Amino acid sequence: MSIDARDLLMALGESAASSGSALAQRFGVTRAAIWKQIEQLRSLGVPVTASPGEGYRLLRPINLLDASAISMAMNTRYSVSDCPIAVHWQIDSTNSEMLRRAPSHKGNAAVCFSELQSTGRGRRGRSWHMPLGGGLAFSILRRFESSMTALAGLSLAVGIGVVRGLSDLGLAGLGIKWPNDIQVQERKLAGILVELGGDSLGPCHAVIGIGINVHLDSQASERIDQPWIDVASMSTDPPERNRLAGCLLARVLEALDQFAESGFVAFVEEFARYDVLRGQRVEILHGRDQCEGVAAGVDHAGHLRVRTTDGELLVDSGEVSVRKANGASP
Ligand code: BTN
Repeated sequence: MSIDARDLLMALGESAASSGSALAQRFGVTRAAIWKQIEQLRSLGVPVTASPGEGYRLLRPINLLDASAISMAMNTRYSVSDCPIAVHWQIDSTNSEMLRRAPSHKGNAAVCFSELQSTGRGRRGRSWHMPLGGGLAFSILRRFESSMTALAGLSLAVGIGVVRGLSDLGLAGLGIKWPNDIQVQERKLAGILVELGGDSLGPCHAVIGIGINVHLDSQASERIDQPWIDVASMSTDPPERNRLAGCLLARVLEALDQFAESGFVAFVEEFARYDVLRGQRVEILHGRDQCEGVAAGVDHAGHLRVRTTDGELLVDSGEVSVRKANGASP
């Protein structure tokens, strides 16, 4: 008989500590097989300690995702039939999965979560890393009657949805770094990846991928190339993962409805409250070109307004990356 990582993780979560022989007996495998699978869990980022006296122990509880627990936590007018929730153990990328499902999915919206992503994708060709049980990775498929052009600003509206969900849970100090990083104290808490499909003149669909750091440890730092923060370090009583997932999903679905109804214009004022770039000297990289200026908020379509020496520039979220330049703010 073989043992899979999920079953072992659940067994570890059931008791304070489990000896290798007790686990071997339970799963009908050798102690060496248990050890091998523990090593596998560790390599995926699960903090498991081992001591001769007590056996294997999880350093902190890990709540695995569960579709009905997420649905209960949503606590909104959305029902599972409006937005079916799928939870995978492992997948290549939740965005890729929803892009694959888009042509055959009949409803208005659907969401998929995964505990592990083998090739989690970030913006601009970067990868997205998440330790097992230490983050949330999910993608929402949402249909729009409008053209793709009308979806400019969508990722900013999603950012507002994420901030609303986190605020509902009592988390404070949140900011949005245009176009779609959720930050706290200049450290990244969550990222958003929007990919479009369908007819460019409409109807079309968006796959909205959201990755959020829930509980990272030093091992994760080695794989993340920018300053980060996690939900666990922002609260003395951090929300359980299913609750976090439900609250975020509810608020993002709500923001998507609002966007479909009124466009980004409905979010402009709220965005300004969270805009961490406003008034900052920024550097715009666009292919090989670069220019510098002062960020001056966003327009009604979600373009970043940058005051440069040549006048105001409107920057499209799809084309550029923004970095704070060295030097003082004006
Ligand atoms: C970024 O900040 O670069 C965007 C990160 C988006 C990551 C999420 S995790 C869920 C979804 N699936 C992916 O492969 N990527 C997004």
